[in-house]
Amino acid sequence: MKNVIAIYPGSFDPLTNGHLDLIHRGSLIFDELIVSILHNPEKDPLFTLDERIGMLKEFTGHMENVRVDTFGGLLVDYARQVKARALLRGIRAISDYEYELQMALMNRKLYPELETVFMMPAVSYSYVSSRLVKEIARLGGSVTGLVPKAVEERLQHKVNGKS
Ligand code: PNS
Repeated sequence: MKNVIAIYPGSFDPLTNGHLDLIHRGSLIFDELIVSILHNPEKDPLFTLDERIGMLKEFTGHMENVRVDTFGGLLVDYARQVKARALLRGIRAISDYEYELQMALMNRKLYPELETVFMMPAVSYSYVSSRLVKEIARLGGSVTGLVPKAVEERLQHKVNGKS
């Protein structure tokens, strides 16, 4: 039997219900799914790395074959390090496809043994992105149903200037 380790990489700033939907789907088809947060010192995320680790652990803790990790540098180097054979990415709409295709082909050029697997989230999350969630929260709109309740509360604290 093959033991397929997959990575689901991303910024997760913040974690959305779309991410969780994809993590659940991935956990059903891969033997192990590593949800790995990109640690990029050049970016200025809303949530610190520790906060994002905490949120992911909180909402994936019940999935036995899912673990949370972080990585820096090239994703393919990290994939080699953790012996991943697959890379999971979500495609919400055709607009995601061009960027994702370019990234998948570049990663294949760098590491041909690593296969990118695209999955679609539930239609109800097909318009959800961390970027829009942050923008809506900053402008005082409701993000109920787009992120877990606890993330929604932390988001309100952040945008209202509380730590
Ligand atoms: O959640 P995001 O921001 O869409 O995730 C993008 C991510 C983290 C998958 C991508 O930026 C990435 O892989 N960065 C690591 C650096 C790298 O390997 N770059 C070359 C990609 S072809």
